[in-house]
Amino acid sequence: MSFQSTRRFLQLSGVIAAGFVLAACGKKEEAPPPAAPAPAAAPAPAPKTFTVGTDAAYAPFEFQNEKGEIVGFSVDLLNAVAAKGGFQVKFVNTPWEGIFNSLQQGDRDLLISSITITDERRQTMDFSNPYFDAQQLIAVKGSSKVEKFDDLKKLKVGVQTGTTGDEVVTKLLGKTSKNVKRFESTPLALKELEAGGVDAVVADNGVVINYVANNPGGQFRTVADTAFAPEQYGIAVKKGNAELLELVNEGLAAIKADGSYDQIYAKTFGAAPAAPAAAPAPATAASK
Ligand code: ARG
Repeated sequence: MSFQSTRRFLQLSGVIAAGFVLAACGKKEEAPPPAAPAPAAAPAPAPKTFTVGTDAAYAPFEFQNEKGEIVGFSVDLLNAVAAKGGFQVKFVNTPWEGIFNSLQQGDRDLLISSITITDERRQTMDFSNPYFDAQQLIAVKGSSKVEKFDDLKKLKVGVQTGTTGDEVVTKLLGKTSKNVKRFESTPLALKELEAGGVDAVVADNGVVINYVANNPGGQFRTVADTAFAPEQYGIAVKKGNAELLELVNEGLAAIKADGSYDQIYAKTFGAAPAAPAAAPAPATAASK
């Protein structure tokens, strides 16, 4: 039984139980006193609002539109999840460098920011089930000779500080290498590539592809490499917040089962997701 239906079941059984008590009272007493409202029948509390941290410089996942509103795939996805879970979300633009700390400090209840689930991060926060598959991708100028990740060894490479892109590049070039150029945001790294300050940028494929497509003047080229491990994005909650995590996972399962995930995916990426993300959730999962 889903969390939702469990709750409904419990509420219902409370009402039924209260009904039995009243009926029993009615038989014994001539004039039963007016029934006190059963606690379970009390009106549902107003939906809770959770504060969501996101580094909104990561189109098409999370970014600001012309009006300064935070929009994108992640926003649509979490809004849909929240609707299923009966809670509300308020997105707050949160720089990547402080984002995990904001969760730890309790300033944010949830993080959705194209965060790759890693064992290291799992030590300090809990993740939802994965909602998106990703992989690192190299961006270079069209004229570049780079053909594979290994070719970056002697080059200047731009990354966003503290991302999985930073991790893989640091590993290849060496911890103390001055050729790893770290930027506050991925678009800043890509601008530097366009300006010629770095020879390549390594970042999440979805963001690199989006940037290259929208900046034809930059004359970029992308280079994929199977050396990059598959990554998966998860929604983060504070370590131990099992209740919120369950709400999120239930919502994710529900939007995958009813097709809204695919709709949101198609709205952002223009096509249904490729397997396995496209695979419909097993029929047993959520139908109720
Ligand atoms: N997926 C990468 C990671 O987890 C990069 C995420 C960066 N997200 C962002 N909104 N800037 O490290």
